[in-house]
Amino acid sequence: EKGGYEDFMIKEIHEQPKAIKDTMTSRLVAGQDIVLDKIHLTKEQLDNVDKIYIIGCGTAYHAGLVGKNIIEKLARIPVEVDIASEFRYRDPLITDRTLIIVISQSGETADTLAVLRDGKKKGARVVAITNVVGSSVSREADDVFYTWAGPEIAVASTKAYVTQLVALYILTLYLADLKGTLSKEEIEKIKTEMLTLPEKAETLLNNLETMQKFASKSYMEKDIFFLGRGLDYAVSLEGSLKLKEISYIHAEAYAGGELKHGPIALIEPGTVVIATLTQETLLDKMVSNIREVVTRGAKVLGIAFEGSTEIEKTCDYAIYIPRTMELLAPILSVIPHQLISYYVAKQKGCDVDKPRNLAKSVTVE
Ligand code: F6R
Repeated sequence: EKGGYEDFMIKEIHEQPKAIKDTMTSRLVAGQDIVLDKIHLTKEQLDNVDKIYIIGCGTAYHAGLVGKNIIEKLARIPVEVDIASEFRYRDPLITDRTLIIVISQSGETADTLAVLRDGKKKGARVVAITNVVGSSVSREADDVFYTWAGPEIAVASTKAYVTQLVALYILTLYLADLKGTLSKEEIEKIKTEMLTLPEKAETLLNNLETMQKFASKSYMEKDIFFLGRGLDYAVSLEGSLKLKEISYIHAEAYAGGELKHGPIALIEPGTVVIATLTQETLLDKMVSNIREVVTRGAKVLGIAFEGSTEIEKTCDYAIYIPRTMELLAPILSVIPHQLISYYVAKQKGCDVDKPRNLAKSVTVE
């Protein structure tokens, strides 16, 4: 059932090109409008929306952070992202002009489901992004977007996360089209690029040596810091969660600009920093953040697009991902994060598919 792979996690990491493709198939077709058969939101209803909340737990929440960034950029609707267990107890402002997007791989997470139910009660419209057909979340939401990742067995989410991102990009294009914030040409351009992502993810998965080599370093054992800005920060949070979950190594992700506001005090000779730098406008700022930690003795791994050779001058190691639009970078840049966690955990002898203390579906509060 593991199809020749050692664990489900590595199998699922390798299934990502297909999962991305399946989630796009029939929805994104070159030259045609986006078709979302279970989303019934009309232009009139969308024009009435004055606020979007994206809600999830853990990895799903991290996907939501990418969602906020792209919806605000492309569809120009204010978005707030929150953790389901925080949102539901804080008396948030929900009206009949609120659109709530709940993200849940299992579709059964108790806190997420509670947000959906409470939101509907208060008159909000709820769109669910879920991987399980017939799950509670899929049955109770007004609109559903199924991610076609296939069953995810490993506790740590990989292919489900990537397809949640794909779902959010497609949904964003759909909203931008309805609202008229992007032209048909602009939408077509992003679509065309998205359709190349399965192949680019495949390329990435065929070049594992640098990640394996980096993961085998003896200094990969305590307090690892992830740094990024913008979309790279959202991916860093996911990378840090992955590492904690399966390798039990303490990891934290910081927005590059926050470094000076505290965390840099923790950097000492040998501290490992994994920096993601895919956003051109933020590149100079990130490079100067990297210099700050290098000066203090940190070992830095940079994750960047092919051809951004300047990172080699500042980082000890570099992992290159195939070039795509900056906007779409998270779909590819998360893959080296998953693989580094995987290799580090394997080296430590951890059970990557069933990390201690964790359950695949959190149906209790
Ligand atoms: C992380 C992980 C968890 C889940 C979270 C939400 O690898 O798997 O953080 O993402 O428990 O689960 P779902 O998406 O099923 O609501």
